[in-house]
Amino acid sequence: MNAAVQANGVSEKPYFSEDGFTLYNADSLELLESMEAEQFDMIFADPPYFLSNDGVTCKNGRMVSVNKGRWDRSQGVLENHEFNLRWLASCQRLLKPNGTIWVSGTQHVIYSIGFAMQSLDFKILNDIAWFKVNPPPNLSCRYFTHGTETIIWAGRTPKTKHTFNYQLMKEENGGKQMKNLWNIMSPRKAEKVHGKHPTQKPIALMRRIVLAATDEGDRILDPFCGSGTTGIAAKTYGREFVGIDQSTEYLDLTIKRYGDIESA
Ligand SMILES: C[S@@+](CC[C@H](N)C(=O)[O-])C[C@H]1O[C@@H](n2cnc3c(N)ncnc32)[C@H](O)[C@@H]1O
Repeated sequence: MNAAVQANGVSEKPYFSEDGFTLYNADSLELLESMEAEQFDMIFADPPYFLSNDGVTCKNGRMVSVNKGRWDRSQGVLENHEFNLRWLASCQRLLKPNGTIWVSGTQHVIYSIGFAMQSLDFKILNDIAWFKVNPPPNLSCRYFTHGTETIIWAGRTPKTKHTFNYQLMKEENGGKQMKNLWNIMSPRKAEKVHGKHPTQKPIALMRRIVLAATDEGDRILDPFCGSGTTGIAAKTYGREFVGIDQSTEYLDLTIKRYGDIESA
C-alpha cells in the first residue's frame, strides 16, 4: 500500500495524487464507507439531482435535452432517498466533530436531502439561496423561471462548533453582514476551456464556501467531484482536497483544471 492510500485510510489506489490534491475513481457509496473516520474539516457535495427525465431546457437560446447522464436518472422517490441517506451517513462519519457539510440541490432532491440530514441529526446552520442572476428562460411559459438552487450548510452534530469566517464574509459584502441570498452567475466561458461538465458549479460559489467555512491547511472532501470545482477552490486557497467521481472523463477534466489553476 503506498503512502497516499494509507493517509486516506482506504484500500483503493488514487486515480491522481499530488501535493494534497487526491482523486479517486470509484462509486462514492462504497468508497466512503471504507475511509478512515473523522478526517475532514469540510465536505461539499453536489449530488445527482435526479432531474434527467427526458424533458427539455433552454441553453444559449436553443431547446436542448435536460438529461445530464445516466447517473442523474431518478430511481424512484424512495430509492433516491435511500441513496441520500446512505452517502450522507458516510459523510457524517468522515467529518471531524467540528466539521461541516454543504449540499446543493434543486426542488428535485433538496427536500430529501434536508429530511435525511434531520433524520441523521446533523445541525442545520443555514439554507443558502443561490440566485443565478441570469438563468435561462422557461420554454413552456407555464412556470416561473427556475433561477435558484438551495445549498444546505450543516454541522456534523448538534454539538458541532463550526468554523465561520464572519469578518471575511462581511468584508466581501462591502462591510455589511452577508445574507443567505447569494447572487452568483453560472460558470464563465473561461471556466470551461478544458472541457464541459453538464452541471459544473461556478468557481465564485465554491470560493465563497471554502473561504467561509475553512482555514488554510484544512482538509476538504467532495464525494461527487465532477469537473473538480471544489478542488480548484480548495487548492487555490491552500486547503487539502480529496475528490471522488465514478467517471474518469470528469476526473481527467479535473486534472486539466488542476494543472492550469492560475486561470481557473
Ligand atoms: C452534479 S455533478 C457534480 C459537478 C461538480 N460540482 C462540478 O462543479 O463539476 C455530480 C457528479 O457525481 C458523479 N456521480 C454520480 N453518482 C456517483 C456515485 N455513486 N459515485 C461517484 N460519483 C458519482 C457524476 O459522475 C457527476 O460528475
